[in-house]
Amino acid sequence: MRPGMIDAAWLPPEAWRAVGSRRIRVTGSGLLVDTVAGELRRACERFGGEVVRGSGGPPCDLEMSLDGDAGLGAEGYELTGDDTRTVLRAARPHGLLYGMFHLLRSDDAPATGAFRPAVSRRMLDHWDNVDVHPVMGQVERGYAGGSLFWRAGEPRRDLARITAYARLLAACGINAVALNNVNVHATEARLLTDRLGEVAEPAEVFRRYGIRTHLAVSFAAPVLHGLSTADPLDRRVRDWWDGVTADVYAAIPDFGGYVVKADSEGQPGPFTYGRSHADGANLLADVLAPHGGVVHWRAFVYNHRQDWRDRSVDRARAAFDHFTPHDGTFRDNVVLQVKHGPIDFQPREPVSPLIAAMPATRVGAEFQITQEYTGQQRHVCYLAPMWSELLRGEQGPAIAEFAAEFVAVANVGDDPFWTGHPLAQANLYAFGRLAWDPGLEPAAVLDEWAGLTFPRGPRRLYDTLHAIMDGSWRAYEKYTAPLGVGFMVRPGDHYGPDVDGYEYTPWGTYHHADRDGAGVDRTVATGTGCAGLYPKPWSKIYESPDDCPDELALFFHHLPYGHVLQSGSTVIQHIYDTHFAGAREAAEMRERWAGVAGLVPAATHERVRELLDEQVRSAEEWRDQINSYFFRKSGVPDAEGRRIY
Ligand code: GCU
Repeated sequence: MRPGMIDAAWLPPEAWRAVGSRRIRVTGSGLLVDTVAGELRRACERFGGEVVRGSGGPPCDLEMSLDGDAGLGAEGYELTGDDTRTVLRAARPHGLLYGMFHLLRSDDAPATGAFRPAVSRRMLDHWDNVDVHPVMGQVERGYAGGSLFWRAGEPRRDLARITAYARLLAACGINAVALNNVNVHATEARLLTDRLGEVAEPAEVFRRYGIRTHLAVSFAAPVLHGLSTADPLDRRVRDWWDGVTADVYAAIPDFGGYVVKADSEGQPGPFTYGRSHADGANLLADVLAPHGGVVHWRAFVYNHRQDWRDRSVDRARAAFDHFTPHDGTFRDNVVLQVKHGPIDFQPREPVSPLIAAMPATRVGAEFQITQEYTGQQRHVCYLAPMWSELLRGEQGPAIAEFAAEFVAVANVGDDPFWTGHPLAQANLYAFGRLAWDPGLEPAAVLDEWAGLTFPRGPRRLYDTLHAIMDGSWRAYEKYTAPLGVGFMVRPGDHYGPDVDGYEYTPWGTYHHADRDGAGVDRTVATGTGCAGLYPKPWSKIYESPDDCPDELALFFHHLPYGHVLQSGSTVIQHIYDTHFAGAREAAEMRERWAGVAGLVPAATHERVRELLDEQVRSAEEWRDQINSYFFRKSGVPDAEGRRIY
């Protein structure tokens, strides 16, 4: 790739060929309709088609109009037609935008039918800092270079790149972004006030692609700006937020709202003033409501200074215990943003019990596209199969049944491939698509992504991508922490194995391995009671070591090494077998990738090839550390006599 070039990701020029060679009529007016017409015009200039605006005149082979049925909602669309003529109807401009991208991914055989998203907000949270943070850098947990929005304290103003980004997001259905880190430091707090222009500028670009811009704010913002208190029930505090919020809307009329991480990992919150999280969230909801904004209030509240000796405290219950007493007391424009699992984005966790326990609250489920705990965009780890299991409820309550919206931490940066690992682009694409339709098959989403990203490739290329990516999350799971116990990562940067790295720390993430067994007893009978927080039948299933899914066995139970799992294997033998298998699968991925040289752009092939070397190395390191650790603890040899150190 030439210096300064940016990868086209899932919208290379070729992806527009089928649409761009048609005669297209676009009727309707307004910003989004202009965007649609502009995009199509560019494609037609390249591929010989034509765009006409307005009604009347001879029929075109693609007709787009805003006379769709109101039942299609604000973003839905309807496709009808045959081989020669396609009609795309929407009730609102957003529908035309999404319908246009539908035509791209279905190429020259557009599906017919009515399509509308499962939820109205599909959002990305960027954890971008304005200043370079001394520990976390420009993007917290970012593995794809610098921020798209700021560099070393200054706005980047790279509107061409933001435009390309907004187009990619719209093409997979994202309609909301928060620009800055949920950990709001002093400089970032000024984005709300004297640095608001740095938000307004990208917001204008996003608006053209149907995306509303949100901002992460500090609960202590009034204090940071000179007030003596941030008490949510203090009149002066409310007035301050009122005034600031009015200014935000004057600059960004379609501003989405605030994202707040309060009383969490050192961030300020209502607890400082003896107030509840409902008091805190409702204050911001009230000031946003007249402008049509929402507050995303994160439920990631737990004691990060706990005593590891005290086994009665369980981080997995913390959010449930904090928030369920407040169900029904949050304003309608509060979204309680809950991480999908009860701990923290591990490769395997049960669904957070909180998600199913707030029937009178608008819940947003939060996922992590950035691969903090899943290989940091150095490992291939296609996350759609994990998300799909969680959404559909294969091992717990179905998130899709309970969540009113979906949010995810973004994985992009100023890396020429956007995501560091070129194949990690698929995770961003897949999140958008699953947020639109949680029922989609992960392999079908991969087909879409691969077909758009590498158009008109030979079947062998797509088969290889499936062979590498479909099972990559499970491969990652196999060579890292076993049976759902989680967090055997190096403290701080969270890359690579360190079995006891967090075991004697205040963070609440333990495995309790000893010479007899491993895992955390979260049962009601003898443990922390976390298993009992789930609706039936899950509370019963998790409570019993015989019924609990193997993948979650050590999440809910402390089990002897000789305990026989449902698979028929013992805990210790499962650990050995999966670790040998996982590392082998990583090596197979590398071999497979070697076989598609010449079928993808050379720069893409080379980048993935280099990263697969690191993945194989890291997987072997994981395998050997985990196996040696458990062999030394248990003294039980591998039944197959393989090499353990
Ligand atoms: C994780 C992550 C932090 C982040 C936090 C959050 O703990 O390591 O960097 O701030 O999640 O979601 O707020």
